[in-house]
Amino acid sequence: MFTFDHERVSDGPAITNLLNIVFGTDRLGKASYALRQNIAPVESLCQVVRCGDQLAASIRFWPTVISDLLSGARHNALLLGPLAVDPAFQGYGIGSKLVGQTLSAASALGHQRIILVGDVCYYGRFGFVPTLPSYITLPGGRDARRLLVKQSALLPSLPAVGRVEPIAQAVPAEAQSELLMAS
Ligand SMILES: CC(C)(COP(=O)(O)OP(=O)(O)OC[C@H]1O[C@@H](n2cnc3c(N)ncnc32)[C@H](O)[C@@H]1OP(=O)(O)O)[C@@H](O)C(=O)NCCC(=O)NCCS
Repeated sequence: MFTFDHERVSDGPAITNLLNIVFGTDRLGKASYALRQNIAPVESLCQVVRCGDQLAASIRFWPTVISDLLSGARHNALLLGPLAVDPAFQGYGIGSKLVGQTLSAASALGHQRIILVGDVCYYGRFGFVPTLPSYITLPGGRDARRLLVKQSALLPSLPAVGRVEPIAQAVPAEAQSELLMAS
């Protein structure tokens, strides 16, 4: 029996363990992690799936902006990820339900543009498409080919040349170590 629930502070160590298993400990060097460092996730959209006492899956969202490198305009974009399902529980529809539910919740909160770094063969089913031919890079200029977007048709197109940047916000010092541990 799976339970979908809001992430709690006490889930941090289990989420870190899950991410280590699914993505490895070298994940922290990826460009998308530069967007999360010292940034608080959007708490209301961070969800977990439990199977009894065990953590089966986790999803998080982060505030970012896409800077238009030609005009200087800035466009809000919510970063989805990481999404991880414990290998023991993969293939049971957990990932699909988690993504579907949280995208609906994000939409209800008014978020009209979601981005992520991932495979279109998985995320395409939720309406994500490559940001190419717009050339939108992550910190360090990396990952443009795997950057996907799902946005409201009412929004203007992505900039032709842009860069995803973290939204600077003050995170209390005591919360920073928890966030980094749990990333
Ligand atoms: C990818 C992931 C989140 C999917 O969660 P899940 O609960 O196992 O997936 P679901 O049961 O909801 O959906 C299964 C479907 O996803 C597909 N799928 C799973 N992993 C996939 C991948 N890496 N690429 C493409 N499709 C994938 C399955 O083929 C299946 O397709 P079907 O519905 O047409 O049969 C999970 O397997 C995971 O954490 N994997 C490790 C990380 C990873 O591989 N990420 C790659 C995507 S960027």
